[in-house]
Amino acid sequence: MSQCAFSANTYAGIRPIKYQNNVLSLLDQRKLPGEEIWIDYTDYQEVAEAIRSMVVRGAPAIGITAAYGAYLGATAIEAKDAEDFAQQFDAICATLNATRPTAVNLAWALERMQRLVRANLNQPPINLKIGLEYEALAIFEEDLRINIAMGQNGEKLIPDQSRILTHCNAGALATGGYGTALGVVRAAVNAGKQVMVLADETRPFLQGARLTAWELQRDKIPVTLICDNMAGYLMSLGGIDCVIVGADRVAANGDVANKIGTYSVAVLAKEHNIPFYVAAPLSTIDMNLAEGKDIPIEQRDTREISHIGETQLAPEGISILNPAFDVTPARLVSAIITERGVVQDDYVVGLKKLTGKGS
Ligand code: MRU
Repeated sequence: MSQCAFSANTYAGIRPIKYQNNVLSLLDQRKLPGEEIWIDYTDYQEVAEAIRSMVVRGAPAIGITAAYGAYLGATAIEAKDAEDFAQQFDAICATLNATRPTAVNLAWALERMQRLVRANLNQPPINLKIGLEYEALAIFEEDLRINIAMGQNGEKLIPDQSRILTHCNAGALATGGYGTALGVVRAAVNAGKQVMVLADETRPFLQGARLTAWELQRDKIPVTLICDNMAGYLMSLGGIDCVIVGADRVAANGDVANKIGTYSVAVLAKEHNIPFYVAAPLSTIDMNLAEGKDIPIEQRDTREISHIGETQLAPEGISILNPAFDVTPARLVSAIITERGVVQDDYVVGLKKLTGKGS
């Protein structure tokens, strides 16, 4: 019998995305934890800007948002026939897809929406619009179910009394609800294990300090915030039992792109013989990319580093780099946890088997 205390139908936790009657509402994650502000969207160009500016962020959450954005764009299409509709819809999807390059869930969700249109070119545009609304809802609700399944698969790797390090936010806020890496933590708690989380603050956008700390505190899961540069020291003291992170894209060989700083944590974990786990839905696995070196890495505005809020920290005119993600080689990853099972050791074979894709 399932150990899970609830199903997707009974999940009453944080959900950063809401949708009703052609209005998409996003919890503005730039304002957390200070303010809980919801912004309503009816226009796909504004949805694209919300993804770009990180009102919503986290790979699965931006996929869901893009799907709804595409539907909102579709509602305004005036087309003479389905072929004309499909062309206009492709342009909308291209705008949404250009917002953030690293998380493959964005392209995955949009491709799913485009596939629905292409498979139904015998239908009038009004039916295509109805179908797209259902497809966006399906992507949203499936994500919650997937996260709960991933949690159940992953919690078996977490011993009782574990002190778990995490980086960035791969929680309810980064998904349709429950979370990927934090979903595993939630499942361990639901299974009656005593665990605590050490949250890297995650410079420069501070997803750990602002978002992971907020959502775990809210769910009364013990959490201690640390600066990114403290993880090695704590590992050397024996204060961390395992690391769990999410992913923005996993290549076919198991290389993992995730928030900048993840690679450093993985190297430290290897040095200290600490398991380094990645929790990612199958929609994050890109079987079209053989290796992580081909994953596009987003470069963000240097102001995220030179400033905190309105306060300038660095000297005017200083040269700054701001890659938002890095790639952790598969050899540093102890296991990849998915909704369909856990892959260890031979990722090329294991991921091919789980996804049913690849040559
Ligand atoms: O720049 P962000 O905040 O979108 O980056 C998010 C991450 O790196 C997450 O770890 C990843 O998307 C997994 S979320 C379940």
